[in-house]
Amino acid sequence: MATVTALRRLACCALLLAGPAAGQDLLGHGGPVGALAVQDGAALSGAFDTRSILWDMHSGAAQLVQRFHEGNVTAVAFLPDNRLATGGQDGRIAVWQVEAREPLFATPHGVAPVAALSLAPGGAALAAGFRDGRIALLDLDGFTLTDVQAHQGRLTGLGYLPDARLVSAGEDLRLAVHDGGLQLVARADLPDLPNALTISEGRVAVVFAEGALRLYSPEGALLPERFLTDRPLIAVAAHRGTVAAAAIDGTVWLLEGADLAQRVMVSAGQGPVWSLALDDRALLTGGGDGTIRRWSIATGERLGRADTPAPDDYDDGSRGAEVWRACAVCHSLDPGDNNRAGPTLHAIFGRPIGTEPGYDYSQALRDLDIIWSPRTVAELFEHGPEAYTPGSRMPEQRLPDPRDRAALVEFLERQAH
Ligand code: HEC
Repeated sequence: MATVTALRRLACCALLLAGPAAGQDLLGHGGPVGALAVQDGAALSGAFDTRSILWDMHSGAAQLVQRFHEGNVTAVAFLPDNRLATGGQDGRIAVWQVEAREPLFATPHGVAPVAALSLAPGGAALAAGFRDGRIALLDLDGFTLTDVQAHQGRLTGLGYLPDARLVSAGEDLRLAVHDGGLQLVARADLPDLPNALTISEGRVAVVFAEGALRLYSPEGALLPERFLTDRPLIAVAAHRGTVAAAAIDGTVWLLEGADLAQRVMVSAGQGPVWSLALDDRALLTGGGDGTIRRWSIATGERLGRADTPAPDDYDDGSRGAEVWRACAVCHSLDPGDNNRAGPTLHAIFGRPIGTEPGYDYSQALRDLDIIWSPRTVAELFEHGPEAYTPGSRMPEQRLPDPRDRAALVEFLERQAH
């Protein structure tokens, strides 16, 4: 017994040492993560589960879950003045004030899904590329829209050069360069189907279905190219002299931006890697498994893993506490603490749904008529939020094992009052 306690204490301290600085997976989406962006210690993700999530990268906690688009959230971007943008399969572009549950502005339903978003240097406009080959320019002050037909067939990538010219690539095997008013100023032929593009230190990095990564000058001249794999490359991101590219089988390369020399290769192990983002320290990979993993830019080492819990004062060593870790990403148990994406679950039993003061619920939740009890909370995760509380912003998740549901509600009975 003494040994077990001692071991547990050791395990606890090891976790403390590993601490938040070591990072961990960002767990919370209920489907593949197709869009990612990072900025100043925050990450923004969009997923097939129709949600976008704003994450605090330091703690791994979700600060905000937004649900607006019908279908996948296909593109995300950080904007100036504490704003965010999301683009969806529904062809809509939404601009959000951080913290708000409803968009500040949204375009009407479109005929084609949004393929990519890119913020103009200076931050005055947001460009969106669509699956039907169009590019739309959204003025972020007055929310006026201009659009042009840039490609025949799908547009697959879009990015602003530092001089405010806009580059796009499409299924028509063309690289197109536009001026600030979307006038075409240069065009180059591509040798294969481009799947995505990004801008790396003033040059255009394009990944291709044949497994090649190519750099182009802003005028469309081919610079270094590298054949990384015989599988399709599907995502690319760049940050300060590093380029990352991902293949459909989940392999990710970190390369020197200058000559595309390979620095490290990572097997992300989460199905296809649909999205990538980079900052000074970490590479983020958004996978088919709904998690966002973090890797060291320098070594390719995994930064934390799924079983590293968010620091939580409520870990009583029980199975219920283990199950709770998945909830702690979004819920606190402290009275009045609504600083995570979901409401605090302090004193949850006996509370009518949607009534925690100070938390801004979705209308869907407010309109429901449920009293939370050990039985109803267990039912919520037996059937999943989508079926039990239709329209909820909480991402889809289930606890198929009745023992886990029982352990969770027992834990909440002990800790949530
Ligand atoms: C990725 C974030 C996220 C995760 C993970 C998550 N939730 Fe939620 N949860 C939310 C959000 C957001 C809401 C509010 C939904 C709304 O307003 O539509 C919510 C609402 C709830 C509610 C209703 C609360 C009320 O006041 O009516 C309960 C109960 C709940 N969650 C329990 C859990 C439990 C238990 C877990 C873990 C098994 C969990 N949640 C995991 C985000 C999350």
